[in-house]
Amino acid sequence: MYICVCNAIKDSQIKQALHEGKLSINELRQHLALASRCGKCTSTLQDMLNEHLQTADRSAD
Ligand code: FES
Repeated sequence: MYICVCNAIKDSQIKQALHEGKLSINELRQHLALASRCGKCTSTLQDMLNEHLQTADRSAD
């Protein structure tokens, strides 16, 4: 599924970047050129980042 339609970036690419340690919007933006045009994907990107960080927190318990 495309998350960033402007740049044709899929959720699988974002998940891969999260697993590689890109743990901020800026890092993801630099790595994948996300949110570099209309910016509509930013909120979904933030949700994916938050979910990833929460999952990481839970697995550390
Ligand atoms: S949908 Fe990502 S910049 Fe437009």
